[in-house]
Amino acid sequence: MTAVVPVRTSAELIGAEEPVLAHNYHPLPVVVARAQGAWVEDVEGRRYLDMLAGYSALNFGHRHPALIEAAHRQLDRLTLTSRAFHNDRLAEFARRLAALTGLDMVLPMNTGAEAVESGIKVARKWAYDVKGVPDGRATIVVAADNFHGRTTTIVSFSTDEVARSGFGPFTPGFRVVPYNDLAALEAAVDETTAAVLIEPVQGEAGVIVPDDGYLAGVRELTRRAGCLFVADEIQSGLGRTGRTLAVEHESVVPDVVLLGKALGGGIVPVSAVVARREVLQVLHPGEHGSTFGGNPLAAAVGTAVVELLETGEFQRRAAELGGILREGLESLVGKGVVGFRSRGLWAGVDVDPALGTGREISERLMREGILVKDTHGSTIRLAPPLTVTAEELQSALHTVEKVLARSA
Ligand SMILES: Cc1ncc(COP(=O)(O)O)c(C=O)c1O
Repeated sequence: MTAVVPVRTSAELIGAEEPVLAHNYHPLPVVVARAQGAWVEDVEGRRYLDMLAGYSALNFGHRHPALIEAAHRQLDRLTLTSRAFHNDRLAEFARRLAALTGLDMVLPMNTGAEAVESGIKVARKWAYDVKGVPDGRATIVVAADNFHGRTTTIVSFSTDEVARSGFGPFTPGFRVVPYNDLAALEAAVDETTAAVLIEPVQGEAGVIVPDDGYLAGVRELTRRAGCLFVADEIQSGLGRTGRTLAVEHESVVPDVVLLGKALGGGIVPVSAVVARREVLQVLHPGEHGSTFGGNPLAAAVGTAVVELLETGEFQRRAAELGGILREGLESLVGKGVVGFRSRGLWAGVDVDPALGTGREISERLMREGILVKDTHGSTIRLAPPLTVTAEELQSALHTVEKVLARSA
């Protein structure tokens, strides 16, 4: 006999998490049970437009048919080998991902933080083996208000006290300079510098878009200083800003690009360090690795993601829909919005603090069928799947307008 599973309400399911789940998140009170495209449905059958898209892990929407099919096909054949053996999917994934980014070699990993950690290790190794920095002296220059993940080394150079406090001692070897400030960067770089590590658009900080010329300036400065430019494109990359990589807005090719989130198609965690040959070839067997990195399921899904991006369709959609998003937000300035920044289909919106915190605004939007996430203070970010339609986007903007008007 099959047991009858009682249907549980959102409130019951949220309550059930309390005693057994670490409280490292404060989710909105919505319990998602299924999803398709830009829409999710909760356990009571209410539908919501997903305007967060898993922090850009769902750039192609929920359960994109081509990605689901690639995953199913691979599930039926081979899922894991470990890198102790070759598998028949990995080389194609690496070759096509390198070609997509204009770089030469790929180090496959799983999560974003792992890609960042790996990028840091590779940059340090390059500094010792190629640049000739004395052992143990390599430095990496990063930007204030960065977000690169949550490991102990990564929070060592975070400027967010909530992320750091209680987690020391920290990893040395990092210098923090203000973002979008080439003079400060220039002053921080010296003969010990292995790399400059920055986000081309700072996502968690509130979608901070640097001034025109900043990314090209970082490229020029790092080349002149003989250190690596490592671009963390984990959130900004893979179509989100209207280009494959956000650095392309300034026609820049970094030495190292870190990718994650959307690379896994919203199905499995897939990340990668993609770099020039001279950089990634500093790694030798045994020096770095991951049991799951480059597994055949990840490679199959990752290849299907690259295939979608090779068409250029999603980059085009992000650019076009980004125009609608920008126009819509411009019309809300003065009507509850005090300012915003956007690039492609990605915006950080500063709501008048008198109308509520970002969290409160997010809860009100949720009740109207729109899922967003706050960042700091009264800022919310909008990053729908790149598959969202113009009508859905416009309707979401109307809902934002309505909720802000009601909050006044
Ligand atoms: C720019 C950037 N780097 C790294 C990460 C960390 O990725 P993950 O959460 O997969 O470890 C994030 C996550 O938000 C990110 O936005």
